[in-house]
Amino acid sequence: MRGLYRAQADGSYVIRTVAPIAYTIPMDGTVGELMERTNISHMRPAHIHFALSAPGYDGLVTHLFQRGGEYLDTDVVYAVKEPLIVDFVKKPPGKAPTGEVVTTPFYEVKYDFVLAKRAEALAAAE
Ligand SMILES: [Fe+2]
Repeated sequence: MRGLYRAQADGSYVIRTVAPIAYTIPMDGTVGELMERTNISHMRPAHIHFALSAPGYDGLVTHLFQRGGEYLDTDVVYAVKEPLIVDFVKKPPGKAPTGEVVTTPFYEVKYDFVLAKRAEALAAAE
């Protein structure tokens, strides 16, 4: 599932997606044969990918991981970092952050991404 979202002028954003679940990397082919010869987990913890960009700033590709989820300590691609582990707060049915009314429980995740200014933008400001 992919989506393209734009932040507001103040940088705030709201997105709606489905709650992620843990999954296995493909275990067929050469990687599968290699993995089966190790005791390394082939699982990825639940996460949401982000590819962020803004004019004048360095782009950022990252994930957010669900605090308390399985496989955080054994992510097969070693992508988990403590600052990227976030709370998925379960909310009752009602008004969602998107403004719509949701008839089922949902999770709310809050995270402020901070992009670095491009070097040329910093140099021009000096
Ligand atoms: Fe993924």
